[in-house]
Amino acid sequence: MHTFQPYPIDLLEMNPFTKIGREWALVTSGTKAKVNTMTVSWGGVGVLWGKNVTFIFIRDSRYTKEFIDQGEFFSLAFLDETYHAALQYCGSHSGRDNDKWSEAGLTPAFRHSIPYPDEANLVILCHKMAAVPITENTFTDKNIMSKWYGDKDMHTMYVGEILDVMAR
Ligand SMILES: Cc1cc2nc3c(=O)[nH]c(=O)nc-3n(C[C@H](O)[C@H](O)[C@H](O)COP(=O)(O)O)c2cc1C
Repeated sequence: MHTFQPYPIDLLEMNPFTKIGREWALVTSGTKAKVNTMTVSWGGVGVLWGKNVTFIFIRDSRYTKEFIDQGEFFSLAFLDETYHAALQYCGSHSGRDNDKWSEAGLTPAFRHSIPYPDEANLVILCHKMAAVPITENTFTDKNIMSKWYGDKDMHTMYVGEILDVMAR
């Protein structure tokens, strides 16, 4: 197990466009009994409802969605480039079918009962504040539905209050 230090959020200099959009992240949710993780490249960080938050977008079909829906917490974790293949694996295999953790060479760890991959170098621990289904009638740009949701596998936007940032 790696040792993580609390990281003051005011010192965070991450660029969400590169960190999430290009380098990708792992969203992890569940309990010690059962925990799942998946790769995301859509999402962000910001301020909402008087809190520092993350927001992520999870399609209906993802096994990880069941864990986020059932629990109160999730984490958003960033790994260095040596784990790129692991992120590719977690973004193309479902925990319904495989033991993703061992197949990807990752280890679930917990802080305040919130799961994250121990191999991460930056972890944002979140308390779920809102689950907002993205439906066809929410699009003002009518191209989005046909471009991204031909199969009707819609996203839910989850907003999470940032409880802790940890770095190693
Ligand atoms: C680079 C990359 C980014 C992804 N981003 C997202 C995302 O933001 N939201 C989403 O629902 N799925 C995303 N996916 C797809 C899921 O990671 C993928 O379907 C995964 O196998 C789901 O695993 P699960 O069924 O165990 O939850 C992404 C996949 C890759 C490779």
